[in-house]
Amino acid sequence: MAHGLQIKDEESGYNKNLFCIPKHYEEDLERVFIPHGVILDRTERLARDIMQDMGNHHIVALCVLKGGYKFFADLLDHIKALNQNGDKSVPITVDFVRIKSYCKDTPTEKMSIVGELSTLNGKDIIKTGRTMKALLSELKDNEPKMVKVVSLLIKRIYRSPGYRPDYIGFEIPDKFVVGYALDYNEYFRDLNHICILKERAKEKYKSNVRLLE
Ligand code: IMP
Ligand code: MG
Repeated sequence: MAHGLQIKDEESGYNKNLFCIPKHYEEDLERVFIPHGVILDRTERLARDIMQDMGNHHIVALCVLKGGYKFFADLLDHIKALNQNGDKSVPITVDFVRIKSYCKDTPTEKMSIVGELSTLNGKDIIKTGRTMKALLSELKDNEPKMVKVVSLLIKRIYRSPGYRPDYIGFEIPDKFVVGYALDYNEYFRDLNHICILKERAKEKYKSNVRLLE
């Protein structure tokens, strides 16, 4: 069973002033939780593990938007590097779906899947596994030969057994995180590091139409 790099519940991350943060987000972030470089290094290893297991199967890489786009692009870059430097290589095609199930940081009842489904799966984060289960049941209708799910983050939620993907980047405590394409109400996707928000940032970005102070 996949485990991923374990980040303990008591881990508080890093002082944000020791990293480069966009000026417009400086006052909104509490700590840097996973620095961008560490994300990329872990992703490089996931790419190697995936390619080792894939054999000679043609891969349809399916990106779950929007939160999965950075991880998807970086993972594919590493897979491409392996393809062009190793003695074996497999063709890869890409596809994209969009699933919307959260409003700000609260799950909504209705889950909508937008896009063509056609299968390696690149996912940003799995909290309860609700989103992923819905997508997988849709994918089944297309009768793929095999489906593997890759998730950069999985949250440790003790109250539910949850869903476990085939490949996991990091297993993190049940904290709300942003950055590296993960958003809070569409903000913070333009931040390289995975970070923890300040409570008052949630208030500040609550409304879609944010007035410039
Ligand atoms: P699940 O359905 O509970 O597994 O939630 C998965 C989806 O919720 C992800 O694709 C994200 O869009 C969103 N999500 C869950 N936790 C976070 C978080 O900490 N930050 C940003 N988005 C999150
Ligand atoms: Mg979101």
